[in-house]
Amino acid sequence: MVKVIVPASSANLGTGFDTLGLAWQLYCKVTAVVEDVNNTDNRTPPGDDLLTRAIGLVFDQAGIEMPAMKLEINSEIPMGKGLGSSAAVIIAGLYLANHLLKYRFTDSQLLDWALSLEGHADNIAAAAAGGLTTAMVVDQQVYYQQVAVRDNLQSVIVVPDFTLPTREARAVLPRQVGWEDCVHHTQQACFVLQSLANGDYRHLQLAMDDTIVQRARQQLIPGLSQVLDSAVQNGALGACLSGAGPSVLALAQSNLAAIGQAMQDAFAARGIKSQCLYTAIDQYGVRIEEYDV
Ligand code: HSE
Repeated sequence: MVKVIVPASSANLGTGFDTLGLAWQLYCKVTAVVEDVNNTDNRTPPGDDLLTRAIGLVFDQAGIEMPAMKLEINSEIPMGKGLGSSAAVIIAGLYLANHLLKYRFTDSQLLDWALSLEGHADNIAAAAAGGLTTAMVVDQQVYYQQVAVRDNLQSVIVVPDFTLPTREARAVLPRQVGWEDCVHHTQQACFVLQSLANGDYRHLQLAMDDTIVQRARQQLIPGLSQVLDSAVQNGALGACLSGAGPSVLALAQSNLAAIGQAMQDAFAARGIKSQCLYTAIDQYGVRIEEYDV
């Protein structure tokens, strides 16, 4: 039996759109029992779901038929909430298949295939590597750097009770952005990255305050600006949409319960129920364990 464990992640971190990702100690666990790698007679039907597509893609690349296997997913990551649930499943499938193929492919190949399934590199880099990652895509190839973060940073993630498909959250984005806004955004995104690396959070909120993407998405998430304000007023070091939303992330070192409560209250004031997750940074990314059954 092979078990693959992949963390949830928050993409963007405000101004690092499609670039920054931070992995959380909330996990998607996939177990696979492969009865006989040479037996393809009774193989898992090529499903439409992301997990079998990811596994199938790696076996296809190897020119080998996907063997029969029993797959199970146990995920703590809420789906469709901006917490990288699909990236986690894709990474799980690709790394599982590569493990079964005795590491025939490199991490870099796996990430490029993950990009082809997911569309953006931010969550997949964080899910694969853990910690804070900054990703770049050139000619459909994913490049990333992992950035060490002080591990005393905690997160409060408020998950409203509605889902927001990423394609809808991208459909509202402006097609053109002015030069000055681009410059300002670049300044902010770099500042977010280095504030987290240095553990200097004094101006983190200023740097995370995304006036392009997040502002455009406000119309899809009732009460978003009040939820963000309530987090900061209660001591969050910075707050932003988690990925494409609708979850809202607050980074903090203390006062976590008060921050979470204030954020939930702000959603409740707009008639939106939510749940609150308290978690910390996952430093490991994808992990694979193998057991005899
Ligand atoms: N960065 C993406 C977005 C979501 O904000 O649309 C995660 O890949």
